[in-house]
Amino acid sequence: MRYSIVILAALVSGSVFAETPRDFLSRFETEAGAPAVAERGARFFSDKHGSDWSCSTCHTARPTQPGRHDKTGKTIAPLAPAANTERFTRAAKVDKWFRRNCNDVVGRECSAGEKADVLAWLLTLK
Ligand code: HEC
Repeated sequence: MRYSIVILAALVSGSVFAETPRDFLSRFETEAGAPAVAERGARFFSDKHGSDWSCSTCHTARPTQPGRHDKTGKTIAPLAPAANTERFTRAAKVDKWFRRNCNDVVGRECSAGEKADVLAWLLTLK
């Protein structure tokens, strides 16, 4: 009985499905079939890819700091896991925002390799 309550609590809090940024990095690297290159991720993040925005427009060039949404002016919590332990722990959130933000900036979904590079770079930030 007590055991099932623990399981239920874990399910409700979502911790059973919690992942770490490292889990996401290895998943993207496996999908891409190649190791990530953090430096390439840094360039990808600051590049406008021919649009008005880069990732750093909203997340800043130093994503250990809070960002600011370029359109709504709303504050965005830091994207780097070192500064925000909630980042890259929920697949639904990671997938949703990679899809939306990549479409806005790059005009298409990011490839697994691009996601791996960006995440590898974010993980170098302290
Ligand atoms: C127009 C503003 C804007 C731009 C440009 C932008 N983002 Fe975001 N991003 C957001 C907002 C808003 C959220 C969701 C709110 C939050 O999580 O704080 C978010 C969340 C994310 C997340 C979710 C991470 C997590 O686990 O919480 C990822 C990943 C992400 N962005 C990556 C990118 C990448 C990569 C780029 C460039 C291709 C980019 N963003 C460009 C506004 C932006």
